[in-house]
Amino acid sequence: PLPRPLAGKRVLITAGPTHEPIDPVRYIANRSSGKQGFAIAAAAQAAGAEVILVSGPVDLDDPDGVNVKHVESARQMLEHVQASLPVDIAIFAAAVADWRVANEGEQKLKKTSAGMPPLQLVENPDILATISKLRDKRPPLVIGFAAETEHLIDNAKAKLARKGCDWIVANDVSPATGVMGGDRNTVHLLSRKSGGEDGEIAVDSWPVMTKEQVAIELIAHVAK
Ligand code: C5P
Repeated sequence: PLPRPLAGKRVLITAGPTHEPIDPVRYIANRSSGKQGFAIAAAAQAAGAEVILVSGPVDLDDPDGVNVKHVESARQMLEHVQASLPVDIAIFAAAVADWRVANEGEQKLKKTSAGMPPLQLVENPDILATISKLRDKRPPLVIGFAAETEHLIDNAKAKLARKGCDWIVANDVSPATGVMGGDRNTVHLLSRKSGGEDGEIAVDSWPVMTKEQVAIELIAHVAK
């Protein structure tokens, strides 16, 4: 029989971008393909876990045997994440839009001689930080991602502290890397050193791998 180290565990994963409506036909989004999060969902399922995948709009097939909830906006994503608790492990791989439009148009915005329509932005909820700071239903292991284009490790360390999660998977997404939309990823796993001095963070840098290999390696660390 295949080893199923996550049998009996409930794993929640977010993936993909979010779409934040401007009006009925337009939205704000980002370049996330959802590939890394979907690969993690498939790897967790293969390891025997019960997997809930909350995904923004992506062009990918639902992984076999995974309970997939499709959402559009950050607020819908948060709602489905909260409704999926409690879980043993939560992995937040979605590229959530930081802002949404406050004055969303009920009708398609039109070009007028008065100039461009002003878009007022308001901050979206931070799903990772919200779940990391829960008192009652905080999952025992919360993992976030840090996609950065500069100062990767420093930004990721700051993010680990600020968000209150247990691990951060940091990856360089500057255009030259081809990570955005591509099939490969070079990641660093940051975790709080147990037994170490307060605030000490271990950085484990992995070689370049396919997103599937990164997913399998991450799930192997989770299983350990
Ligand atoms: O702050 P930043 O967006 O770079 O943080 C990235 C991490 O936070 C990712 O794990 C992402 O899924 C999560 N996040 C979130 N909700 C947000 C913004 C980011 O869950 N509104």
